[in-house]
This record gives sequence, C-alpha cells and structure tokens, in this order.
Amino acid sequence: MTRRSSPRSRTRSRKYGRSGGGEAAVTAPKRVSATDQIPPEQRKAPLFEAIVKYVRSGKASFHTPGHKHGRGVYAPFRRFLGRRVFQADLTLLEEVDSLHEPRSVIREAQRLAAQTFGADETFFLVNGTSVGNQTMLWAAVREGERIIIPRNVHRSVFAGLMLTGARPVYVSPPVMEDWGIYGNIAPEQVLEALRANQGCQAVMVTCPLYYGQTTDMARITAVAHRAGAACLVDEAHGPHFGFHEALPPSAMSCGADLVAQSTHKVLGAMTQSSMLHLAGARIDRARLKMGLQLLQSTSPSYVLLASLDVARLQMAVSGRRLLDRVISMARETVRALNRIPGIRCFGPEHCGRPGAFAFDETRIMLHVDWPVSGFEVAHRLRDEYRLQPEMADSTNVLFLIGQGNSWGQLKRLVRAVRRLERDYRGLTAHRTPLHLPPLEPTRVVLTPREAVLGRARRVPLSDAAGEVCAELLSPYPPGVPLVAPGELITKEVVGYLSGVLRAGGRVNGQADMSGRSVRIVEAAPASAARDVDFDKMLAFVLHQNAPEGGAQ
Ligand SMILES: Cc1ncc(COP(=O)(O)O)c(C=O)c1O
Repeated sequence: MTRRSSPRSRTRSRKYGRSGGGEAAVTAPKRVSATDQIPPEQRKAPLFEAIVKYVRSGKASFHTPGHKHGRGVYAPFRRFLGRRVFQADLTLLEEVDSLHEPRSVIREAQRLAAQTFGADETFFLVNGTSVGNQTMLWAAVREGERIIIPRNVHRSVFAGLMLTGARPVYVSPPVMEDWGIYGNIAPEQVLEALRANQGCQAVMVTCPLYYGQTTDMARITAVAHRAGAACLVDEAHGPHFGFHEALPPSAMSCGADLVAQSTHKVLGAMTQSSMLHLAGARIDRARLKMGLQLLQSTSPSYVLLASLDVARLQMAVSGRRLLDRVISMARETVRALNRIPGIRCFGPEHCGRPGAFAFDETRIMLHVDWPVSGFEVAHRLRDEYRLQPEMADSTNVLFLIGQGNSWGQLKRLVRAVRRLERDYRGLTAHRTPLHLPPLEPTRVVLTPREAVLGRARRVPLSDAAGEVCAELLSPYPPGVPLVAPGELITKEVVGYLSGVLRAGGRVNGQADMSGRSVRIVEAAPASAARDVDFDKMLAFVLHQNAPEGGAQ
C-alpha cells in the first residue's frame, strides 16, 4: 500500500466536513487499491540504516547507556537477547538524530510514516498509545474546556483529563447484551452531545474497540468538524486499517485531526512503539510538540524507534499481501469455530446495529456459551494447549491474528476448542452471567482532575455506594473504567465489581490490589466547590437508599 491515495481521500472527507451539506453527504473514503504504486523511497528505513551504519563504525562509547554497547551488561542476559540489541541501544547522537528535535534520519523516518499512513505529520512514540492519548488531549483541550468522550475509553484518556483539567462530556456506549460487551458509540450520539454542549472543543473516539467493533468514523468526523470541534481518535488497535479493502477505513482517511496508533499491538513494531498522526490545521502543532516533549522520556529507545521505521516499511511495501493471508486465516478459523456447539464468533454479519458499525476481521472474538466462563477457557487453552489468547472476560475469549501467525497455529486452536467442547458437553452447571452495568453520564459530580486533587480516604467496597470515586476502577480485561474519578459509585457497580472478582477477574486502578476497598473523595479541592452538583448527589443518595425497586 502507499498513501498516494490518502491525500485524495482526506481532501474528500474534509470537503464534506466543511460543506455543511448534511450527514448524508458523507461518502465512504477511498479505499486503498492493491495496484497503487509504491514510491521507491518507501523501501528505505533511514533510522534503521543509520543505526546499522553507526554500529559498524565501531566507535568506543563514553556516553549513556551505561552498558556500553552491551559489554557491561549481565552476561546471561546478553547471551539470551543477543549482543545486537545492546549495540543498537544508542542514545542521542548526531549520527542517529534526536526524537524531540529531529533534523535528519528520524525526521525522514517520520516523514515516510506520514506518507504511508496518510498524515500531514507523524510523530514516533516510545510510551505507547497511552502517551499518544494524553498528548492528544493536551494539544486539543485546556482547563475547563469540554470534550466529548465515549465513557468506555482507555484509562490513558482519563490520565489526559487529569492532566488538562478538561471537562468530559461522556457518551454512553451501548451495551451489546448478547455478547456481554460495551459497543462503539454512534454518530447520532456525538451529534446529540454536540447540540447539548455548544462550543465543545473536541470529540474523542475509540475506533476500533479492543474487541474490534468500529463506528462510522467518516460521519463522526464530519459532525465534529461542522460543530467546530477537532476529532481525536484512539486507533490503538487499528494501525493496519487502510492497508486492505476488507478492513474498516483508517481514521486518517476519514478526516480525523489527530490519531494515535499502537503500531506494536498489531504491526511488526516492538512493545511501547506507537505513532501519532496529525492532519489539517485544527490542532495547535506547537502545543502538540510541547506535550510530546513533556510527557515522553528524554532518552527514547532507539531499538523501539527503529522498530517503528521498519514496521512502516514492511506495511508500505507488503501490507496488503500480508493482510490478505491474515484475513484468510482468520476467516477460515472463524468458520471452523462457528461449527462447534456453544461457540459463536463475532463477524461482519453482526454489524449494522447499535454498538458495531463494522468489524476488524483480524480479531477472533469467541463467545462461549458453555457452563464455564471465558476466563476458564482461556486458562485451559494456555495451560493445556499452549495457546495464549490476548484476553478473556466472563463470556468471551479474544485472539489477535497477525502476520506472525501460521495456519498450523490456527488449526491447533480449532482442535483445542473442539476438545474443550467435548469436555464440557453434558455438564449442567450454570455460570452466573455478569450483566454489564450501563455507563451512565449522569453519575459525574467532579471532573477527573478535581477528584484526584481532592482529599481521599479508603472505604470497604461494600460501603462505597453513594460515594464519589477518587480512583479509576477498571475490571480487567477489557480495562474499561467502570467508575472514573469524580463519578458516584452505584450499588449496581459495587455488585458488578464483586462479581468480577468472584469470576476470577481483576479490578485495575485501585490502590488496594485485593479490590476489597476503594478510595473515595472526602473533600473536593477548593477550586471545585462551586461546581459540585449537590442536587444531583442528593437525588442519587436518595435513590440508593430507596427500597429495592422503589427508587424514584
Ligand atoms: C483502546 C486502547 N487505547 C489505548 C491503549 C494504550 O495503548 P498502549 O499500550 O500502546 O500504550 C490501549 C491498550 O490496551 C487500548 O486498548
């Protein structure tokens, strides 16, 4: 794939975005064609090549890192990893450029990435999409400004809210009851939130979700731009979009202003290596760069940076061919799994309803309708069959299929699931299904920043209903914060969290790792007092104390 097609598709999306011609005017962005020409420069990896050249020059190191090209490192560790990793673990040197002030090879590597991913400018990240999300918020919103956010965002978005002091306008994701997950938000919800909150600075979207469901990005971008808001996209799980016509379109091709992608999660880059793509003039570039400099290490890893450079090259040159095979493997596996009693996998046929506009078919989301939980299935696959899924929840197990997987591995997966089905056949024990509580925006009392800057104390989870939460409570997986700092803790939430712990899951974000106690706001910071909605709090407490079913 090359992004020679992308600038055209961007122009088209933006044109519709500005024209005010109504949502119906938005057409699907142009898809990448297999016959697109690959610009010869895309076959180069300037940073990787500079690192190789530097290592070959054999210079003695009188600089950081302290292991001095690996000579000073613990020998068994070096033997295990190989000496090259340490030789390539360089620091800011003229020959290999600087991430924060790129002038030569990093600048060129980022330019090639921008061309490939359809951005005006691309920034390499060494602290994952987590830092990408924080920087997007830093660049787009300031203290007190409002930003529309789906309530099921990754925790790093809450970190961005704490950092900036922006006011989130949460949009509730639909609960997809038959799959036991939160779905993606719809453009209509964004439109409604924008109408109710005139002057919002930005709209943030997670697309795709961890489980692979997307929303209509082109329409959301158009709706946001028409309201004068920038569109930020957490595309952590979608860096491969845009490289194959069977996949959903990339957010950049749909006209988004800022997009963060975890190159390491799906493509061939190393863990922590992500990219942030910028397009258009809605985002203050200087502020964006400042955020990247403030939030990222001043000693970025050159091994990670080089892995981004080669991941881009690989996709630019061979992305479509690699994804062709991945999609074929995943589709065939899904067909075989769907024939096993009690198993159904999410697919394009489940899209076009609230929660799923389209689906990334490189993910296998296996729903287990057996008398056991998804957690148990995942454990058995790992321990008995040496198959390691990405994650599990109480009813689903998620597998990510990538270019590094083989047909043989996928056949082993199908065989293992068949054997598990035989083991469970005839068992009558019933699991207690966990009903996901709706993520209601009405629970917000303080902004996340106000909640974490206030005075907090710890109470047993069982006594927490009716209190304002001072931490992020995210049942893991999938890591969606069920309660954000500044929100009221409901009885329903307490029940759900207790159920997750009983089913073998964990709750992340709590200071108390056992999950038995929770930090609540004892006193909000003085700056927040004027904003606390005491009426809402009172109504909530009355509701909580009302007899079962009698709450008004
Ligand atoms: C939707 C989403 N956004 C952002 C992140 C953070 O990405 P990273 O691990 O690259 O920091 C994750 C991580 O799982 C995620 O699922």
